[in-house]
Amino acid sequence: MRYPLATLFAALISASLAHAATPGQTACSQIQGSLGQGKVANPNLLNFQYQQSKNGYWNTRLNANNPACAVYPSSASDVSTSLKAIKAAGSRFAIKAGGHNPNANFSSTNNGVLLDMSKMTDKSYDPAKGTCTYQPGNKFGDLYEFYEQFGVTITGARLSGVGSGLGLGGGLSYLSGEYGLSVDGFQSLEVVLPSGEIVTASKTSYPDLFFAMRGGGGNAYGVVTSYTVTARKVGKFHSGLLVYALNETNRVLEAVHDFTRYNTNPKANLIATWEKIPLPDLNINLDEIFILFAVYDGEDPGNSYKNFTDIPHILDTRQVRSYVSTTRDLATPFATDISKGSNTFRVSVHAIDDDTYKQAYDQWRAWAQRPEIKSKYMLTSLDFQPVLRSLTDASKSQGGNAMDMPDGPWFWLNYLLTTPPTLSASDYNEIQESFKEMVNVVPAAKNLPLFINDAAYDQNPLPTFSTYQRLKSIKAKYDPDGFFSSKTGGWAFP
Ligand SMILES: Cc1cc2nc3c(=O)[nH]c(=O)nc-3n(C[C@H](O)[C@H](O)[C@H](O)COP(=O)(O)OP(=O)(O)OC[C@H]3O[C@@H](n4cnc5c(N)ncnc54)[C@H](O)[C@@H]3O)c2cc1C
Ligand SMILES: *[C@@H]1O[C@H](CO)[C@@H](O)[C@H](O)[C@H]1NC(C)=O
Ligand SMILES: *[C@@H]1O[C@H](CO)[C@@H](O)[C@H](O)[C@H]1NC(C)=O
Ligand SMILES: *[C@@H]1O[C@H](CO)[C@@H](O)[C@H](O)[C@H]1NC(C)=O
Repeated sequence: MRYPLATLFAALISASLAHAATPGQTACSQIQGSLGQGKVANPNLLNFQYQQSKNGYWNTRLNANNPACAVYPSSASDVSTSLKAIKAAGSRFAIKAGGHNPNANFSSTNNGVLLDMSKMTDKSYDPAKGTCTYQPGNKFGDLYEFYEQFGVTITGARLSGVGSGLGLGGGLSYLSGEYGLSVDGFQSLEVVLPSGEIVTASKTSYPDLFFAMRGGGGNAYGVVTSYTVTARKVGKFHSGLLVYALNETNRVLEAVHDFTRYNTNPKANLIATWEKIPLPDLNINLDEIFILFAVYDGEDPGNSYKNFTDIPHILDTRQVRSYVSTTRDLATPFATDISKGSNTFRVSVHAIDDDTYKQAYDQWRAWAQRPEIKSKYMLTSLDFQPVLRSLTDASKSQGGNAMDMPDGPWFWLNYLLTTPPTLSASDYNEIQESFKEMVNVVPAAKNLPLFINDAAYDQNPLPTFSTYQRLKSIKAKYDPDGFFSSKTGGWAFP
């Protein structure tokens, strides 16, 4: 009798252990109890909402995670309730806006609570104050379309599909030459602190928090539930692509350098991207293409792009169009969806007065040509993003940001690597390691900040900011128990 009873007990205990709720599950049922069923989606193959939240990442490798549930807050108070439950349960979590950050754990979580902001899509314009207020569930394209009717817009993504999280990492826009980064236009933010407290951060209210949130990174100091930013007058643009063949590389690269150094017209902006797909080498080199996104705020760009149009090109799609069209149609509509895949970014920063920008291009190209590398990628690109003098001047004149950007001009370089979904784990690790080494061959400039929005998880940009110590103490003040530091991804203060 004794022996079977003990066995029965053991069986009962292990059965109850198997069903013991994980911290994520505990938090989820607590949140569901408080917010109601309609705001929580549970793991279930047939739950479309859950599947959409779990699978919507631009880096599709992140879709492998299974959050304990997805929560759809509709207010700061919902976020506050959720954070308190997550903290009490000791669960991990992630804050997801547009889901474009490619780094693991930044806006994705396995077994934790996924705070999906997509239902918070309010937006409004205050003509008297000259401000736009929007919630984090909006994509930039939605905002540009909405604000166009008022003749205004905001400094945000160059591609319409990118989410609002872009702003928290700085936010480089086609309007940045005139108005600085997205963060430079921040007027006030509604923030749910790690404690659950709801505050307004501005130059006069919680100014230290406001300083840190102007480019110190998302998911570090709290959850933003509303952005109020400066409205910018908007009219017609002259914008489009200039496309070049491989044999013009050197001249185009030189023109990008000259533009970055000499352009004094803040209305003229560009991003230059070198793209490579791994076709076999042919004499005509169809596998490599240079695309210049030339965007001028106004109908007549004058001589701003003459150095580029003077170089023989394959295609020139520049024409007069709206800002909405500029951010939607230059590449291809839905570009952010089409480009979903096994994607990783890396970032670098280079000064204007040396030739490291050219060395960086040479390293990247030689690497992408290597047969053992070519067999492991689908696409790799190198983007030159000029940080013009007018950009850093505009930033300073609005109070500066968390990077306290040194005077331009200089370059942010963004490297993209897309690998085939079928690549084996060892091949994947190998090419990622090699990608990292390649980018490191030409060291980043020592006194310039790395760009948060383009950085890989192992490239913590914060220590490259002159404001690092200040940010570190603000982080310690607003996340005193290390709740966000230990339970969600993002940049750490080592
Ligand atoms: C196709 C493409 C185009 C891009 N174009 C540009 C560009 O033009 N300019 C530029 O600067 N960058 C650009 N980026 C980089 C982009 O800024 C980052 O990928 C950014 O992370 C995107 O924000 P998201 O809301 O889509 O992503 P998410 O991954 O959802 O969010 C990014 C980060 O912010 C956090 N976060 C998001 N919302 C909140 C919130 N409300 N409160 C607190 N934390 C939050 C997340 O946890 C995450 O760590 C581009 C990226 C891609 C893939
Ligand atoms: C993501 O978080 C999980 C859980 O803490 C951890 O095991 C994993 O190593 C993290 N991934 C990265 C790339 O940091
Ligand atoms: C590149 O090739 C095109 C087409 O063959 C030609 O017109 C152009 O002059 C070439 N440029 C250089 C720098 O050789
Ligand atoms: C074009 O390049 C030349 C140097 O070759 C430079 O002097 C000039 O300022 C550049 N023009 C513009 C508009 O950037």
